[in-house]
Amino acid sequence: MYVEVKNYSKVIKGIAVLKDINVRFEQGIVYGLQGKNGSGKTMLMRAICGLIRPTEGSVIIDGKVLGKDMSFPESIGVLIENPSFLANCTGYENLEILASIQKKIGKEEIEETLRAVGLEPSDKRKYKKYSLGMKQKLGIAAAVMEHPDIIILDEPINAIDEEGVGLVEDILENERKRGAVIIIACHDKEEMERLADEIICIEDGKIAEKK
Ligand SMILES: Nc1ncnc2c1ncn2[C@@H]1O[C@H](COP(=O)(O)OP(=O)(O)OP(=O)(O)O)[C@@H](O)[C@H]1O
Ligand SMILES: [Mg+2]
Repeated sequence: MYVEVKNYSKVIKGIAVLKDINVRFEQGIVYGLQGKNGSGKTMLMRAICGLIRPTEGSVIIDGKVLGKDMSFPESIGVLIENPSFLANCTGYENLEILASIQKKIGKEEIEETLRAVGLEPSDKRKYKKYSLGMKQKLGIAAAVMEHPDIIILDEPINAIDEEGVGLVEDILENERKRGAVIIIACHDKEEMERLADEIICIEDGKIAEKK
């Protein structure tokens, strides 16, 4: 299992937002995208998810070209910017609806994932009553609950309390051990170094340096 971004460039309205990106992500490794605001971290994540199409180049997942051999990655969990859930459903109900699409997991796994992010499965509060951090936790739960091959979390610990950050660390460690390709972005440098095995620096739409 690997994700390869090959000679990838994206121009939006005459502006090059990704410039000849070449990077390969392997399973069992947590990659941390680092870079200033507007450097292209979220755009690179969108490219890997198939949410934007390249102006040039390609994304290859296990030998298959995204946008040609498949429209979207076959097994991916994503949290990019604000998660969107149904306002009048509880956290559990929201995950249940999402899980009913692929039917890979049932009640037990949904409950287990909710607990893993620090949410109570029996909480009767509707999503619209959730705090910012609770919404973020539910977003993480939705991304990881089916244990996908690829996990992409943009700013996963935003608005999350200290205890919650510890839980996110544990989740990522478990998913990494299981063999997922994990890509995250996080502005807290210390936290990033704790979470990521490899840091990829992005500067002005280009890969700057790989440590
Ligand atoms: N919907 C859009 N349409 C056009 N350009 C966009 C759009 N979204 C982002 N951009 C541009 O793409 C470039 C990269 O943005 P991106 O969101 O990837 O940055 P980022 O590294 O994730 O920044 P941040 O740290 O603020 O999250 C920026 O120049 C931005 O202005
Ligand atoms: Mg971003």
